[in-house]
Amino acid sequence: MNSTPRYVARPPDANGFIEYTPDEHKVWETLYQRQVKLIEGRACDAYYEGVLRLGLNHHKIPQCKDVTDVLQSLTGWSVTPVAALISFKEFFDLIANRTFPAASFIRRIEDLDYLQEPDIFHEIFGHGPLLTDPAFAAFTEAVGQFGKTVLPEDRKMLARLYWFTVEFGLIQHGPDLKIFGAGILSSKTESTYALDSEIPQRKPFDLLEVLRMPYRYDQLQKTYFIINSFDELYNMINGNLNEVFKEAKALGMLPDPFAENHDPDDVRSC
Ligand SMILES: [Fe+2]
Repeated sequence: MNSTPRYVARPPDANGFIEYTPDEHKVWETLYQRQVKLIEGRACDAYYEGVLRLGLNHHKIPQCKDVTDVLQSLTGWSVTPVAALISFKEFFDLIANRTFPAASFIRRIEDLDYLQEPDIFHEIFGHGPLLTDPAFAAFTEAVGQFGKTVLPEDRKMLARLYWFTVEFGLIQHGPDLKIFGAGILSSKTESTYALDSEIPQRKPFDLLEVLRMPYRYDQLQKTYFIINSFDELYNMINGNLNEVFKEAKALGMLPDPFAENHDPDDVRSC
């Protein structure tokens, strides 16, 4: 475990530009080159198409305003730098408006392999490409729209839907399983663990189960849910989310998969 003090947000200037140091750009380059190799053949097709559309610079940390310029023309999304941690309410309000909140700092070189909180590498490398996909973009907005309607005490339940899809979702490509979750795609450990490890369960996506499944943000997942397409996901939550939400609340949480046989060394990185 590291004992580094928590990172702080890097605010943009009046033109939306964030100044990064050469050392910080070097961290991006190192992470990018390593992660591209780790996820080779593992990410879903839409992710690779999105990488090409965004034209990410391998050598320099992308500016949120430049990523926004591309997204605006494709799906109407923008990426805006925010404080590292924001409330569920702020988060859902932003994505309901097709605005993706991005932590703007980048990890230090000594934290290359281990970082619990999301940094700009996770936000842009992990999330950016799929925000160019119209169906995925529509689903993410729909989660935010629903978030504006739920009671404050119910936002955690909706956060589980986001967690098991946008952050840690798997997708079936014919006979192959692929990754679309940003939390997996940007993680050194989880990008191989998610598809290769025998430890976690991999189950067909079940909305009622997803809403009731405990998760831990600082541990490798115990459960992954598999979707067939982003369109299917979008249609599912637009069809009966209200109804399933009520049912999930009535049933309560599923047993915590982290409570038994838990290895405290199963820490994950962003
Ligand atoms: Fe994320």
